[in-house]
Order: sequence, then C-alpha cells, then structure tokens
Amino acid sequence: MTPRHIAFIMDGNGRWAENKGLARAEGYKYGLAALLEVLKVCALKHVEAVTVFAFSTENNGRPFAEKEAIFEVVKTFNENYFGEYKIRYMGDIDFLDDGLIASIEKIEERTENNDGLTLNIALNYGAKDDIIRAAKLAYDHGEFTPEAFERGLSSYGLPPLDLIVRTGGEKRLSNFMLYEAAYSELIFLDTLWPDMKSEDAEKIFEEFNRRVRKFGK
Ligand code: IPE
Ligand code: IPE
Ligand code: MG
Repeated sequence: MTPRHIAFIMDGNGRWAENKGLARAEGYKYGLAALLEVLKVCALKHVEAVTVFAFSTENNGRPFAEKEAIFEVVKTFNENYFGEYKIRYMGDIDFLDDGLIASIEKIEERTENNDGLTLNIALNYGAKDDIIRAAKLAYDHGEFTPEAFERGLSSYGLPPLDLIVRTGGEKRLSNFMLYEAAYSELIFLDTLWPDMKSEDAEKIFEEFNRRVRKFGK
C-alpha cells in the first residue's frame, strides 16, 4: 500500500551545516534541495499529500538571524516555485513578515488548481495551538462531534496521516500533528535532513510496506 499522506519532521539541518563547518543558515538551503528530491519520489509513488514541518511555534525562541534564514528560504521557494504541486500552508502566519505572508498568499493562489501532489507546509505551526483553535471553533458552533472538531483543524481536507518520518535522530513529535498522529506509522531516521536522497525516500516506502496496520482491531 502507498501511504496517501506522509509528514516529514525535517530535523537536523543546523547540525548538518555545523558538521560541514558552515553557518546553520546554509543547512536550511540544502534542506530545501533535499525536500524537492524526496517529493519527486513521493509524487512518482502517487502519494496524495505531503506535510512538512518547516518552523514550529517553539522555534520562535531561536536567535533572530536563524529565524530570518529559515523564513528567507521559505520566501524564496514561494517566489520561485512554478511546478505542478499544489502548495498550502498551515500554522499561525498572521504575525510573520509582510513580504513572507504575501509570498504565501501568492503561491497558494497560483498553485490552487494544480493537479500534482499537495505540499502542505507547517510554518509557525504547533499542534497544541491548532487543537485549541479547533476546540474553540467547535464550541462557537455548539457542535461537539469529531467531524465538527476536525473541520477546525488546519489539516482539514487532507487524507488521513498514514506516516510520520522524523530525520535527525530524535525520537519525539515536538508538538507536530498530535491529533492526526493517532494511527500514523512512525519512522525515525538518524540521517540529517539535508542528507536525504531519493534512495532514502525509497527505503521509507519499503519500511512502510512492512508495517502491519491494525487500527485496534
Ligand atoms: C529543523 O532543523 C528545522 C527547523 C527547526 C526549522 P534544526 O534547525 O532543528 O536542525 P538541528 O536539529 O539543530 O540540527
Ligand atoms: C522540530 O524540530 C521542528 C521542525 C522540524 C520544524 P526541533 O529541532 O525544533 O525540535 P526539538 O527542539 O529537537 O524537539
Ligand atoms: Mg532540531
């Protein structure tokens, strides 16, 4: 079975750069290149949606220059991507830089009718925030069914999250898609994200195929 929706916690960019004697900022540029390579494999496998964790609400605590470097990579991608993927964002983007917000709005609009895979970029995203927001929306509508709650999540409309892959060696979710992860398969790789190649992506699909999903039954 091919996973319909895969999420990547793209961790290890900073360490990758430091290991090479580069500034951490360089790690994010190479991280984007790795992402494009991984996405090609996902598209060939007919994955419908890929969600990537680009910046967490907690990452706001990082040094200014590092945050700027990450946002610059995101903005450059937004301004220069003219491919077939359908790009959407999730997370609290309202307080980001105006230029970045404009680039997000433009790329979402430009790719809205694309028929390639959906690339959902989690930016200034935290699962706790998202869950609280969805709960508030359900409360405001006076509807407390799982369906009403899920309509308020930023991931609404995407296929069920079949698989979460975290690179960079840490074995935790770091406030990422906590609700959607209920029955996701989890893969943790020691590979630092910018080192991800198409062969590594292929191996992820092989590993997923070995998993027996039971959903409690
Ligand atoms: C993860 O890479 C991506 C972001 C937080 C934007 P890191 O920057 O956490 O890289 P490491 O974990 O320090 O190597
Ligand atoms: C998770 O990585 C966030 C992203 C990949 C964007 P972190 O590097 O921020 O996570 P922790 O701090 O190791 O848990
Ligand atoms: Mg990290």
